[in-house]
This record gives sequence, structure tokens and C-alpha cells, in this order.
Amino acid sequence: MDEDAIERGRLLFARECRFVTGAAGLDDLPAADLPEVAFAGRSNVGKSSLLNALTGRKNLARTSNTPGRTRQLNFFDLGGELMLADLPGYGYARASRSEVRSWTRLTMDYLRGRPTLRRVFLLIDARHGLMPTDNEILDLFDNAAVAYQAVLTKADKTKPAELSDRLTEIARSLAKHPAAHPEVIATSAVRKTGIAELRAWLATLDDTESLS
Ligand code: GTP
Ligand code: MG
Repeated sequence: MDEDAIERGRLLFARECRFVTGAAGLDDLPAADLPEVAFAGRSNVGKSSLLNALTGRKNLARTSNTPGRTRQLNFFDLGGELMLADLPGYGYARASRSEVRSWTRLTMDYLRGRPTLRRVFLLIDARHGLMPTDNEILDLFDNAAVAYQAVLTKADKTKPAELSDRLTEIARSLAKHPAAHPEVIATSAVRKTGIAELRAWLATLDDTESLS
């Protein structure tokens, strides 16, 4: 990412960000009139923390120590330029089969039926890498024909050598998925690592002209 791109990301995220709505079903989705990006990942991977770090707000998206708290799609309008969607976490060990089914249906309907969706950022815990449930999600994304990009979270919990191995390993796995963006971004919501870079990536996706 060059300096201009970083600056565009900074300016985009200097804008006001407001919570729009939480959707428990397709009928509750907000109007699709802005370019949109979604954040997906296992329960507890750090989605809400990352959204808070990106927007510079401590409590925009609820964070919790209780995995699986966020059971709906939460939408945030970033300065009338870009819609951010926080998808419910998956892979929660204590979820029942019917919960998993309803999660899968809602997510799949959303991914397939959202014309403004530009890219899904798939969050992966830097300590664990891709887990079996993550691989199921990659298949689901491939089936929904949605473009996605991997983001490592909690990079502060890994040693530099481990982080670099993890980045290589994930890039290699994703190379088998044509809809996956080849670049993987490492972030830490605690140390704010990679946040400016991720903002810059997000700013490349907010051009309204190409919406139609
Ligand atoms: P659900 O919505 O429940 O699926 O979780 P989530 O993916 O939104 O995760 P959340 O942001 O609530 O974070 C889960 C836990 O991980 C919390 O205890 C956070 O404080 C912690 N956490 C999140 N990001 C980081 C990070 O970058 N570094 C460290 N060390 N901890 C983090
Ligand atoms: Mg959350």
C-alpha cells in the first residue's frame, strides 16, 4: 500500500460512523444504496474489536468475552460512503444444529442477495490459522461467488516468525480459491497494527460510480 492509499483510508475513516441496524433476517436488511463490505469469522476471532479499531471508537461494535454474543448482522454507515456489515460469528462450540442451520441460511442469503457487497473480509486468528470451520466458510463463499480477502487478527499474540509462517501458509491455501484476494493482512486491535493498511484496502472499495 502506497502513501496515497493510506491517506485515502485515513480520510475515509475520519468520517462519522453510525450504527444503522441489526438484522436477524433478510427482511431487516438496510437499503442497499452504498458500496458494502462485510466482516466474517469464527466466533471470538475479534470482528467487533477490529471494527472498533478501524473506526477509532471504543464501543461501536459490541465486544465481549462471551463467544457467540453477536447473533445478527450489524450494519454501520461510514460517512455515507461505505456500509460496514459485521456478520454473526460461526464455529461456536455450543451452538445447536438448528442454530448452525439458521446461521448458514441467513449468511448465504445475505451473501447471494446483496448486490452492493464488494468484498468479504474473512478474519482468522493469527495463532490458529485456518480451522476446519473456516474451510467450510471458504466453500460457502466460493458457492456464493463472493470476493473475499483474509485478515489475521490478534497478531500481537504471535511471535514475528510464527506470524510470517502463518501468512505464507494462509496465502498458499487461498491460492486454491479463485475468489480469494491473494494479499493477506495481519492486524492487532490491541496494538493497532495493520489498521491503517486495512483502512486503505477498504478505501479502494468505496467508489459509488461502479455501483449500478
Ligand atoms: P463474536 O461477536 O462473539 O463472534 O466475537 P468477535 O469476533 O466480535 O470478537 P470480539 O471482538 O468480541 O473479541 C473477542 C475477544 O478477543 C475479546 O476478549 C477481545 O478483547 C479479544 N481480542 C480481540 N482482538 C484482539 C487483538 O487484536 N489482540 C488481543 N490480544 N485480543 C483481542
Ligand atoms: Mg462480535
